[in-house]
Amino acid sequence: MCGIVGYTGPQSAVTPLIEGLRRLEYRGYDSAGIALGTSGKLYVEKRAGKLNNLEQALGADLPTVHSGIGHTRWATHGGPTDRNAHPHLDNEGKLAVIHNGIIENYAELRTLLEGRGHKFSSDTDTESVAHLLSDLRKSHNGDLPAAMREAVASLRGSFTLLAIHADAPETIVGVRRNSPLVLGLGDGENYLASDVAAFIQYTKRAVELGQDEVVTITPTSYSITDLAGNSKKAKEYEITWDASAAEKGGFTHFMLKEIFEQPKAVADTLIGRLKDKKIQLDELNLSSREIKDIDKVVVLACGTAFHAGLIAKYAIEKWAKVPVEVELASEFRYRDPIVNKNTLVLAISQSGETMDTLMALRHAKSLGARILAICNTNSSTIPRESDAVLYTHAGPEIAVASTKAFLTQVAATYLIGLYLAQQRGVMKDGEVAEAFEQLQELPGKIEQVLETVEPLRELTRTFAAATSVLFLGRNVGFPVALEGALKLKELAYMHAEGFAGGELKHGPIALIEEGTPVIAIMPAGAEHALDEKMASNIQEVKARGANVIVIAEEGQVVTGATHVIRLPKAPAMMQPLLATVPLQVFAYEMAVTRGNDVDQPRNLAKSVTVE
Ligand code: F6R
Repeated sequence: MCGIVGYTGPQSAVTPLIEGLRRLEYRGYDSAGIALGTSGKLYVEKRAGKLNNLEQALGADLPTVHSGIGHTRWATHGGPTDRNAHPHLDNEGKLAVIHNGIIENYAELRTLLEGRGHKFSSDTDTESVAHLLSDLRKSHNGDLPAAMREAVASLRGSFTLLAIHADAPETIVGVRRNSPLVLGLGDGENYLASDVAAFIQYTKRAVELGQDEVVTITPTSYSITDLAGNSKKAKEYEITWDASAAEKGGFTHFMLKEIFEQPKAVADTLIGRLKDKKIQLDELNLSSREIKDIDKVVVLACGTAFHAGLIAKYAIEKWAKVPVEVELASEFRYRDPIVNKNTLVLAISQSGETMDTLMALRHAKSLGARILAICNTNSSTIPRESDAVLYTHAGPEIAVASTKAFLTQVAATYLIGLYLAQQRGVMKDGEVAEAFEQLQELPGKIEQVLETVEPLRELTRTFAAATSVLFLGRNVGFPVALEGALKLKELAYMHAEGFAGGELKHGPIALIEEGTPVIAIMPAGAEHALDEKMASNIQEVKARGANVIVIAEEGQVVTGATHVIRLPKAPAMMQPLLATVPLQVFAYEMAVTRGNDVDQPRNLAKSVTVE
């Protein structure tokens, strides 16, 4: 949460800073601000609300300077107001700081610094760092990197910090602990940002920064040290996607574009994964002995990624016959889970930066588990801290609501399930190859689903005033119901709940009133024994006045539905990758119908880097 960008080089800094913030706005959009590296006093402008407010405030008479830092905020400490917007300054207006994360000991720092005469002008945890750095810089004779090293040693929590000082404005100093920061290397210019998206249009050369590393950039140099001041070796890498991947490409919203990218995203996740009837997952780096010794799989994830994990449980247990537990990362961290060296942990995260998942991963690692990350973001923290990583190759996901990441996460877990099944000798090569072929047919089938979603727009008009929408599913359709409800909540701001069809009669059915929309996900036809059970659930809610929208396969008999949305035929295990798509479109269209901001829903941020 919070997007950070720093620039130093020949350009007028305001351009790369604002462009960078625009691409990072998915990380938070409560307020935005910049500090430009003017000498004497820094030029600072900040505004509550979206980036447009800041842009309007900047006006035409901006100083042309060649360095600066910019921030887009998701508020934690202090409301989303002008005064709490970043950057935060020291009392001389010469040193500015921007921050992503939480400084846990900010209150004691503030008391200490106020005792030394510092005057605070915000309610944030960040401002104490500006004052602290100001004092330490003086005691280090103007050496800002040295001040940053000492400051960080006394900070608790998670943070990425960037600082700039008016006396040496071409220098920007950054540090990261449990929050992302990446260095972009340009030609005579350098960048620091939360995500490569901020500078992708200028350079594809990036450098990973490790935990507690302090980085100093000027237009022509960079250096990285640990907190003791020892030089650290940089690991440079090439960014593989280009700037157009982070553009809307003719779609009205990133979310819609990403929904329509799903066939390709799933195909890219699967590419090259089957050779001679063998699933190819060399990156897992597990010996046959280790694979045989796995006695449990634990999935750790949050939100949509957690729903992908719930689907994975059905597939992995069915195919590999290994017990699977799926845990909300935020809960796992603070209990005493039974995990040991024979546990394979799957840490699923689109961003690779989700703090709850990262903390859970570390907890599992400390208990001896082997960690496999399923991630969409190259070189992010979760893969870096895992023993192995399976990238989903969905391409950048910009819309806050996750869509293509979800489908590719499910596909990736299926690969793991088939791989374990094959390596453990539970499934024969032919069976594995057959399941893989079914997976490979999905991109084409998702295309078909996308061709038939138009009527969903009309449907959202019918139900736009509903106060509550319920989603029902059984088997793999149950996590799909949860995901459909989550999408509707976050985009349409409507009350929505997903239930297992069988649970309905144990309480939730009391929610049904005359006209309540209920979306029922029917399991796949012939091979599934649950059709009739679901058909009964549909009758039960209909008898109590519900308007039932059923998602069913072509040819599946459906009675009692107000509307039926048809999916191409597919084996039961493959259905989640099809049935989720109309639910994504439904939530998208409902948000549009209700006039909500689709790509940046209220109160949310794409990458949740606080616990
Ligand atoms: C919902 C959504 C969130 C994320 C969750 C985990 O649309 O996007 O629920 O799925 O915050 O994020 P990652 O996958 O980045 O760890």
